[in-house]
Amino acid sequence: MSGKDELVGIRTAALGKVQAAESSAQLDEIDTQYLGRKGELTLQLRRIGSLSQDERKDFGQSVNDIKAELSEAIAQRRQALDAGESKAKLAAEAVDVTLPGRFYQTGRPHILIETIEKIKRIFIGLGYEFVETPEIEDYKYNFEALNYPPEHPAMDEQMSFYINDDVLLRTHTTAYQHRVMPYRKPPMRVATIGKTYRYENVDATHGHTFHQVDCFAIDHDISLTDLKGTIQQFAVEMFGMDVNVRFRPDFFPFVEPGAEFAVTCFLCKGEGCGVCKGSGWLELGGAGLIHPNILEKAGIDSEEYTGFAFGFGIERMPMLEHGIKDLRLFMENDLRFLRQL
Ligand code: PHE
Repeated sequence: MSGKDELVGIRTAALGKVQAAESSAQLDEIDTQYLGRKGELTLQLRRIGSLSQDERKDFGQSVNDIKAELSEAIAQRRQALDAGESKAKLAAEAVDVTLPGRFYQTGRPHILIETIEKIKRIFIGLGYEFVETPEIEDYKYNFEALNYPPEHPAMDEQMSFYINDDVLLRTHTTAYQHRVMPYRKPPMRVATIGKTYRYENVDATHGHTFHQVDCFAIDHDISLTDLKGTIQQFAVEMFGMDVNVRFRPDFFPFVEPGAEFAVTCFLCKGEGCGVCKGSGWLELGGAGLIHPNILEKAGIDSEEYTGFAFGFGIERMPMLEHGIKDLRLFMENDLRFLRQL
């Protein structure tokens, strides 16, 4: 076979391989095989010495032409492969921005916790210190120290959860008073917030477990005006509007005088609506000036000091605000309910 024919064969084979190459690495191999220092075309050049003077130029030219052509073919194929590879890579990494996002469930505080935190913040802002006292309480603190006469109906077993004759689940947070008063010196402003229990027939508006907040202040010259102003300031901050406070006489053994208190309905601003049953007022809780007996029992001179106390339920506030009709929902922890708030 003449040198020329052999060259044509090498060229055809090499270009064929380039077209068939599927990767950059394969192209590198072809490059080395034909164009490298010991490559087939390079070796062809070495044959020049054995050719006649006439043939040399022509042959050398052909080899160089084929080398250039092959080089170019390899470069082109490499480019085509690269483009294909990055296209494939892009396709594999593609993100569909039209897909709907994933929904992650997040937790949040229970509505009662939120209400409690808000109430606490307000009273702390008014200078009250919050204390915690037992939910399983001595009869002594829950009733006796609070001036309850021995036959008061609240102490009835039908009304309270007794654990034994001396211990019961506290029926009101007011039980904290004598756990605190004897151990401090006036002036004092103390509050507590937490669970209370009553032996109730459970229905939409009566629960066996509910929450209350209780506050008291003792100082020189404390009067009903201070009590009214404190409740008013609380209501302004709680309900975010100007409110009036209304007292109506009521009896609690540990206050004298005693009152139930109401604030302007925050929904209708006192005009009268379904929530306040047309009255313009929302009943919140009980209040009064601390009975002198209570102060004396705590070792506080009732001639020198006076004080006020008040307490109210927590559940009522979110019930009014969100139109919740059933008290039981708060303690059942049904997410279908809680997620709505
Ligand atoms: N403890 C009373 C109740 O449970 C509320 C109250 C607290 C009344 C403080 C007067 C003073 O209804």
